[in-house]
Formats: sequence, structure tokens, C-alpha cells
Amino acid sequence: MKVLHVAAEIFPLVKTGGLADVLGALPQALVRAGADVRLLLPGLPAILHGVEMQESVWSIGAIFGAGQVTLRRGTIARSGVTAYVVDAPYLYKRHGNPYLAADGTEWSDNVQRFALLGWVAAHLAAGEFDANWTPDVLHTHDWHAAMACAYVACRPVTGVATVFTVHNLAYQGVFAVEDFHLMHLPSRLMVPSGLEYHGQFSFMKAGLKFAHRVTTVSPSYAREIATEAFGCGLDGVIRARGADVSGILNGVDPGVWNPASDAALAAPYSSGALAGKAVCKAALQKELGLVVDAKAPLFAVVSRLTQQKGLDLLLAAWPLLLQDTLASGAQLVIQGSGDAALEAAFAAAAQAHPGQIAVSLGYDEALAHRVIAGADAMVVPSRFEPCGLTQLYALRYGTVPVVRAVGGLADTVVDANPHHLAQDSATGFLFDAAEPQALVGALRRAIACLRDAPTWARIMLRGMAQDFSWSSAAEQYIALYEDAIRRPK
Ligand code: ADP
Ligand code: GLC
Repeated sequence: MKVLHVAAEIFPLVKTGGLADVLGALPQALVRAGADVRLLLPGLPAILHGVEMQESVWSIGAIFGAGQVTLRRGTIARSGVTAYVVDAPYLYKRHGNPYLAADGTEWSDNVQRFALLGWVAAHLAAGEFDANWTPDVLHTHDWHAAMACAYVACRPVTGVATVFTVHNLAYQGVFAVEDFHLMHLPSRLMVPSGLEYHGQFSFMKAGLKFAHRVTTVSPSYAREIATEAFGCGLDGVIRARGADVSGILNGVDPGVWNPASDAALAAPYSSGALAGKAVCKAALQKELGLVVDAKAPLFAVVSRLTQQKGLDLLLAAWPLLLQDTLASGAQLVIQGSGDAALEAAFAAAAQAHPGQIAVSLGYDEALAHRVIAGADAMVVPSRFEPCGLTQLYALRYGTVPVVRAVGGLADTVVDANPHHLAQDSATGFLFDAAEPQALVGALRRAIACLRDAPTWARIMLRGMAQDFSWSSAAEQYIALYEDAIRRPK
């Protein structure tokens, strides 16, 4: 089975979040499961530079405002997976964030930048650009690649089955109707049953409407996005797709996230030899200027700082938590970047509580590993969470997750309530309401448990023993691909 994945990010070349981690691991897992997998990526500088042995496979010429577009083919060094790269300097030769300019606003030509990606995907899938390789399945990720599904649907029957994965429904790629003429799409699609969305048009809708199958990255999020509360205005479209929408949980790449072989850590450790974890905690406290104290409960966050992640709840919860003498001495590490107000609020909190709260603004992959290894507990208080990867990494690193019971967080963490503790199935702490008091309750339970060393050790070891492997996800995707090929609609 030949599968072409289309996405805007791939670890370690271009990463703004978990999407990159998925594209860095899933293709390889599918190859191990027997599929013939290739990638299609935009020619951002880091991708053109990082994909090895790029030969030109097709000269596409001038389109979407770019003077010269060339399709190249090379190899992703760390996985050996073949990647096609859309080389369009006019649209993609820009350093920094793939979606935003340096001032934080969207690139003004994003409509052409991501229309081109989808358009090339559809033509490649039709066998027009590489006669030697035509996919059976075109698998597109997030709005950046979604338009491929509309381009395929508008062409004479190509035989390719299309799959669209929603990693985050909140980012939709909505553009002004005046830009629709740039799309090289028939105007009959500018209707509510097509791409039209409240007087504008939506890339996300192209995936939701036209893909043969729609997936999300956890079973709970698949159910949630069919409701008004989580549907971001598209729940009706999602409900209308019925059983075509399903959830497949992401995995962890053990080549990147393994405390026994992680080069970023002060000391390696594993469930059988945990001494290194205490070394990592002390090293992290020292590195970030916290009081070096093995007994201080150390909570951590590694996250984009956005409304989604609920970190305003943590800001409000922390002073409430510290009112309790049980929590005195508790420490907090925040690693993240994003919303300017949140960045400023966390920086101010760190200034007000030196030695107790440390904040590292900006993006640093190696530091993220050290934070996840060195903390006792990982806090993920998200308002919504399609899957969430940091709680999975935390589980593997013996860092107990304290998470809101939503989306993929609810699917991957088992609450340490008396019932689960008795069954020895508990792996973390969950809370329901998106309110500071509810988070305080979960943090208090975690601290109380941390003071009870044997119970904490059981929760930690149960978490480390969880198997969130990509091979299970790969098997589910292959079954879905087979079904989509057999029964496209
Ligand atoms: P999302 O994709 O919504 O941002 P995930 O939990 O799925 O959330 O994935 C986030 C990924 O980004 C993880 O690999 C996490 O370690 C990483 N990450 C987030 N913020 C930072 C940061 N400031 N520095 C380094 N890595 C980060
Ligand atoms: C999105 C989601 C996150 C998910 C990631 C990878 O960015 O916000 O929950 O883990 O995609 O699928």
C-alpha cells in the first residue's frame, strides 16, 4: 500500500508543536507495518536544507503567484523515508515560524502558500509529477494540507483514497472570499455545502467535507468535536460525517523520548534504575535557579502558551495552592512561548518568587527533555486537548501527569482515586472543571501522594510501564486506509 503524507511540519526540521512529532514518527511506523510511505512538505528553508539528496522530479513552473515551482525528491536522514519537497522560494523561503511573520501576524499570502501545498499533493496523487510512484492513499494533516482533499475531489476520478487528520480544530485556515479566485478551484465550491464558511472560505472544511475519512488524534476528541462546545463552529459538519470520523491515539517515538538513552539529561535512568531521576531533578533546579531540594514537589509545564492550554488556570491556582502548608516549598517550572500576556504574567510570577518559580520563555528542545525528566509532575490543564504529547512523554519519564480530564488527556491518564490505586492502575491526577479551584484540588492530591513515597513510586512505575507505541497507531491507520480504499464513500 502506497501512502503519501502531506504536512507543514516535521520533527526535527520544522516544529511548532506536536504535529511535527507525529510526522517525525508515524511515517516510519507505517513503513515498519509494511506500507510504502512518502512525504510531501513545503520547501521551507529548514526542510530544503534538511532533506538529503534532493533531485528535481518535475518543473511545475509559475503558479499561485510563485515565479518558479519545482518538485524535488530526497530522503529524511533520521528515518530514511522519501520526501517530496515543493521548492517555491517566493512563497516558502522565509526563516522562523512556518505560519507567522516575525511580528506574530499570519503571512499575508498564506492562502497561496498552503493552496500550493494541497494542489501539488493532488497532482502528485494523480500520477502527473512522478510516474514511478502514485499513492493509493493521500493522508493530509491539519488545515495546511487539507485543501488537497478538495483538489482531488474536483478532478476526474483518480482512484486515490483521501484521509484528513485533525490535529487541532481551532486553527482552520479561513480566508476572505475575495481570495477565492486565487485557489484554482471551481466557484461552485463557494457554497455552504462546500468550502464557504460564514461568508469566507475554509481550508479545514475542505478536509472535513471532501476527505473519504476524517480522523483526530484521540478517541475522546473525535467525540468532543461533534459537540457545540468543542466543534469550533464545525460540529455540524463533523456530525454529518457520522462514522467517517474516528480517533486514533498518537504514540511516543522511543528514539527521541527515552530516559535511558536521552543525551540531553544529566543522568540516564529507567524504571529498573531510578537513581538518575533524582540527579536530573537536582540538575534542573540548579540550571533554572530553583532551590536545590530533593524533597520540594517540583511541577512543570512545557507548552505553547495559548488559551487552549489553560495555563491562566495555573497562574490563578498557584497562590491558592501555596495557602496550604502541605504545599509550602512547592516549585514550578514553566517552559513555553506564545501569548504575550501569559509570558509576561509568568515572568512576573518568577520574579516575585525567586527560587520557587522558574520561567524559560522560548523554544528549546533539549531543555524540554531536561524539564520533563527533572520534574516530579507535569501539569497540563488544557481547555481542550486533541491528544497532547507532553503527558505521554512525562509518563515515560516517570513524571506524573496532573491533567484536565479532556480529549487525549482523559484517554491517556488514569486518575489516582482510591479505586484505581487499589487496582494499581493509577498513573496520574485528573480534574474536571476548567477552574483554578479544581486544578488546586488535583495539585493538592498530587502533593499528598508525593509525601507518601511508596504510593508515589507505584503511580510512577505504572506510568513508565504504559505502552503508547506508534506501532499500534500504525496498525489502526492501515486498517482505516484499507477500508477507505475499498469503500471510498
Ligand atoms: P501542541 O501540539 O498542542 O502544542 P503537544 O503536547 O501535542 O501540544 O505537543 C507539544 C510539543 O511541543 C511537545 O513535543 C513539546 O515538548 C514541545 N514543546 C512545546 N513548547 C516547547 C518549548 N517552549 N520548547 C521546546 N519544546 C516545546
Ligand atoms: C495538536 C494538538 C495536540 C496534539 C498534536 C499532535 O497540536 O493541540 O493535542 O497532540 O496536535 O497530534
